[in-house]
Amino acid sequence: MLSGLLVSAGCGVAAQATSPNEMGLHQLFVAAGKLYFGTAIETNNFNDSAYLSIANNRNEFGMYVPENSQKWEEIQPSPQNFEFEAPDAVLALARRNGQQFRCHTLTWHSQLPSFVENGTWTRDTLAAVIVAHITNVMTHYRGLCYAWDVVNEALNDNGTFRNSVFFRTMGTDFIPLSFAAAARADPSARLYYNDFNLETAPRKAAAAVRIVQLVQAANIPIHGLGFQAHFRVGLTPNVSSLIATQNLFTNLGLEVAFSELDVAHLSLPPNASSVAGQSRDYLSVVQACLAVPKCVGITLWQFTDKYSWIPSTFPGLGDACLYSANFTKKPAYEAVRNYMISVVSNMTSGAGRNLSTTVAPPTMPTPTGMMTLPADIAGELAPFVTSPPVRTSMGAMVSVGTGLWLGVAVVLGTLL
Ligand code: XIL
Repeated sequence: MLSGLLVSAGCGVAAQATSPNEMGLHQLFVAAGKLYFGTAIETNNFNDSAYLSIANNRNEFGMYVPENSQKWEEIQPSPQNFEFEAPDAVLALARRNGQQFRCHTLTWHSQLPSFVENGTWTRDTLAAVIVAHITNVMTHYRGLCYAWDVVNEALNDNGTFRNSVFFRTMGTDFIPLSFAAAARADPSARLYYNDFNLETAPRKAAAAVRIVQLVQAANIPIHGLGFQAHFRVGLTPNVSSLIATQNLFTNLGLEVAFSELDVAHLSLPPNASSVAGQSRDYLSVVQACLAVPKCVGITLWQFTDKYSWIPSTFPGLGDACLYSANFTKKPAYEAVRNYMISVVSNMTSGAGRNLSTTVAPPTMPTPTGMMTLPADIAGELAPFVTSPPVRTSMGAMVSVGTGLWLGVAVVLGTLL
């Protein structure tokens, strides 16, 4: 019957049915009810045609995130000097392929330009620089990023705050300030807190819960929690533990995502048992995301060992990706794909089958370039903060700020 061959893909358009075992990873994730399966890529690999031909396959990857080029030191290397060329090229490729775009990252202690890292700051001057950075960068990509990692890695593994220039100068206030500026700059983007080891360090996860509550208590939008998921073979949490960690945040109303997945072998070359362990660990993450309805997707931190960050950052570790350095699909890839095929094949409802697996590219607004910092940040941020005093479970008095950003600081200053 015709209806068995053609399915409606919405808007009256008929699409060719695709059977699960013909689907790529992204298609399978969409068929299983997720938004995407994606990967970090970067423009310095764009001259590698074998790399690009895999990355460009939107059936495999429905989401790109620039691995480095949106980080502060690259996108605003010196004051008021914005470099959008590289991330724009990643975005252009995503749009050409019909892929979504995830954006990374705004307020982060690492890969900072020296003018921020080594500047002499007061609360007000650093607040102004953070707001200007977020406003300029997010305005350039307004309407184009599914999500932004607004604050990245604010915590130590023991749950204390990292000793960054932001925390030293402003205490925890840089966090709600960043989210408030982000919400103002692009109300359509999903705003994430992103960190690593939340899945393995309970005190760090508890502190991340308090960060979310701090932002929510000030009535500032926060939509998502990104688990970086930089795992090690054999040391990856099991499925139920990964589910429990996600639920800490979905219970607060957030969506969650595994935002930078890789699973490194502890010694190289890996032996057979480590290869099997890598498959199991990748599968645990996939199963944990499938089990949590508010887990929207998984992003690989590069898909090939050829360009993985692991060996240079963690000498002795490596081969952490789903594709080998010469682009063959590794056993972990096959394990994930076969599992996803079985999941999608077993879905009894029509929703699991023959879905439209393409994502319409967003409309590209004209890049707006650089903006000047609004004179009155407080007034501009006011819509995102509550005026009456609010309580938070942070349990600490946050000191009252003065100057430009009173809209946030006054509210935080009244926290008990
Ligand atoms: C890494 C990149 O992969 C490397 O190329 C770069 O040299 C350092 O940063 N957490 C993050 C990512 O949020 O941005 C980091 O990416 C990996 C850890």
